Amino acid sequence: MVLRSLELLVLLFCPHTSLGLANIIMMLRTKATCVNLFIFVNLSGKYSLYILSNNGPNITLFYYFCTSLIYSDMRKGVLVTGGTGYIGSHTVVELLEAGYYVIIVDNLSNSDESVIDGIEAITGIRPDFVKADCRNIETLEKLFEKGRFDSIIHFAAAKAVGESVEKPLEYYHNNILSLINIISLMRRYNVPNLVFSSSCTVYGQPEVLPATEQTPRLEAESPYGNTKRICEDIIRDSVKAYDSISAIALRYFNPIGAHPSALIGELPRGIPNNLLPYVTQTAAGIREVLSIFGDDYNTPDGFCIRDYIDINDLAAAHVAALKRMICGKMKENFEVFNIGTGRGVSTMEIVKTFEKVNGLSLKYRITGRRAGDIEAMWADPSYANEELGWYARKSLYETLRSAWKWQQRLCGVDISDE
Ligand SMILES: NC(=O)c1ccc[n+]([C@@H]2O[C@H](COP(=O)([O-])OP(=O)(O)OC[C@H]3O[C@@H](n4cnc5c(N)ncnc54)[C@H](O)[C@@H]3O)[C@@H](O)[C@H]2O)c1
Repeated sequence: MVLRSLELLVLLFCPHTSLGLANIIMMLRTKATCVNLFIFVNLSGKYSLYILSNNGPNITLFYYFCTSLIYSDMRKGVLVTGGTGYIGSHTVVELLEAGYYVIIVDNLSNSDESVIDGIEAITGIRPDFVKADCRNIETLEKLFEKGRFDSIIHFAAAKAVGESVEKPLEYYHNNILSLINIISLMRRYNVPNLVFSSSCTVYGQPEVLPATEQTPRLEAESPYGNTKRICEDIIRDSVKAYDSISAIALRYFNPIGAHPSALIGELPRGIPNNLLPYVTQTAAGIREVLSIFGDDYNTPDGFCIRDYIDINDLAAAHVAALKRMICGKMKENFEVFNIGTGRGVSTMEIVKTFEKVNGLSLKYRITGRRAGDIEAMWADPSYANEELGWYARKSLYETLRSAWKWQQRLCGVDISDE
């Protein structure tokens, strides 16, 4: 559109408080034709262009026109499976803040419904919540029948690597059946967009680092890792066969930290499997001592290296992926992006930085290597940077500070002054 040809530019802000949406409608009138152009822009960045009569603006008609557009945009909702979980809850915050309407479905097998209170306290919006199991297609179908979403972010899965070795069938049943149900219903109800939670575990230990999206996927080390690989294949084949569906798989590296408000964060059940919750629980005195597995790796300080990404940065990547799909910017119907920082950090660096940032001393001991741990892993995130316009922005300091603040809040420490 050539702005020089415009005679009139009116900006109207139409806040729709119950949805937390703030939509902008621009009314433009061209000099040459007196045609009224209405540009409807919502905060997810999507815009639509409408041309009305050539009789000059009629404010009543214009009001009804705007209202109907706002309501029609409500359909651009997002179903978030596993939305009360660690990554899901932070992503729901990002989605609500970007103006999306969100429905969470979670069976609460690894999360707590009180997370919704935290989301509401941060955003001022209470997302819809349905307690349901994604393995149950009949229950899921009731949500699809209402037709309130065009996109799905599918987080729901069991994720403990060690447990998956002991209970492989439960992992295959949960992670794979849930995805098959989601895709089947997307077809049946014409829901076009899927963002899937994948993992850098699909790369195993790459020969060359950093890992790019072209790094070959290796045979999985665990049933959990295998479910991610199989799910990616199911999505790739489905998208090829069914034109109506597009999908983006985000391969996460190692998410850590919490929302800066400390109102939501990771809630591990039982003994944590991951480094950071173990670090914070040891600092809080819940665990006696932190075990660090192996100091004889072929890395600069001998400890394992990972790409630790701030949970809020990771959450923002989902909004960027969704925007790409909704705005029709995908280059292929199935795309894959690495979501990491591009920075490898060793286990000991995490421990030392955590101590420094939070002004405390951690009790740790160095033990032998743990079976199944790879030596080093970090991402090349440049494809996501270029194509999604997404960058990991938080410093390790900020992230480790937020992790400790969250742990303190869980322990009932007053952090209101911080
Ligand atoms: N956290 C990580 O380090 C990491 C890394 C890579 C990939 N991922 C993937 O990201 C996704 C989210 O991980 P997270 O760390 O937030 O885990 P999480 O356990 O905190 O969240 C998963 C949520 O899904 C729910 N859920 C599980 N099975 C369900 C089912 N059948 N029906 C409905 N809800 C179900 C759980 O109750 C939980 O709230 C998972 O798919 C996980 O495999 C996580």
